[in-house]
Amino acid sequence: MKPRILVARAVFPQVLTLLAQHFDVTANQDDALWSSAELIQQLQGKQGVFTTGSERISQELLAACPDLKICANMAVGFNNFDLDAMTAAGVLGTNTPDVLTETTADFGFALMMATARRMAESEHFLRAGLWNRWRYDMFAGAEVHGSTLGILGMGRIGQGIARRGAFGFGMNVIYHNRSRLDAATEAACGASYVSKQDLLQRSDHLVLVLPYSPEAHHVIGATELAQMKPTASLVNIARGGIVDDAALAIALKQGTIAAAGLDVFEGEPKVHPDLLSVPNVVLTPHIASATIPTRLAMAQLAADNLIGFLVHGKAVTPLNPQVVSA
Ligand code: GLV
Repeated sequence: MKPRILVARAVFPQVLTLLAQHFDVTANQDDALWSSAELIQQLQGKQGVFTTGSERISQELLAACPDLKICANMAVGFNNFDLDAMTAAGVLGTNTPDVLTETTADFGFALMMATARRMAESEHFLRAGLWNRWRYDMFAGAEVHGSTLGILGMGRIGQGIARRGAFGFGMNVIYHNRSRLDAATEAACGASYVSKQDLLQRSDHLVLVLPYSPEAHHVIGATELAQMKPTASLVNIARGGIVDDAALAIALKQGTIAAAGLDVFEGEPKVHPDLLSVPNVVLTPHIASATIPTRLAMAQLAADNLIGFLVHGKAVTPLNPQVVSA
């Protein structure tokens, strides 16, 4: 008998076809948004689940789904998983690193540029029919080339953004990370290590690319925003909750910093109402990895993890491999 899996959200049909070759698949191609109780109900008798970053795998869910062996996330971030509880329950978690690195770095850089050069704000002005003349200072933004690009969180995506800034735009790239990169990697990224305080004070454009963890909650709040330059912009492509969105809205209104670009939000898909009413913020709906080839590669990797583990006993990108060797 084939193992039974749940694909918790809509996915590329060709990925479902692949999964159906190996599994008895329950799919959700209508993309219904299930409550935790509904997810638990759908998971009864399933050995595997294909999740996105929106489905929470909690201790409560694990206790209620004793047949579950693997949760394969179609995302590199996995803060929707209680990984400790999964390990304790003997459930493997997997994510989708590498396949989205360059695409996400492209988007982070694009959002930084759109923010600095006020693209959304000026487009709204044009669409509203308010453009009636050229003016010397109209939507004058911040310089990108030659400016200082700060990166908080220097993993694979942060390094991709650094390379774009240093070698594509002649930016002075500085970064802060839990651990400093080795000299060869720093040189390959054209980036120098600084303290968090230096990063805040010196960046013209500060891009956040660190993973979410309880320690990263509100890593950028009112105190940190107050240390930034009033001409600076802040970009968050990491996770909602890393920035205190309410404090950011106040900082944008008061001119503590010049602008922000946000692809992720606290409590998304809800967006803090004050962010919706400030003009100097570019808002996008968590799409940094969204190109069709990359999303397909992510879905394929999540499927390969399910097949690798449930059919062949070895996942491709496990998060808690100790579960398998235990
Ligand atoms: C998207 O946010 C991801 O973690 O892949």
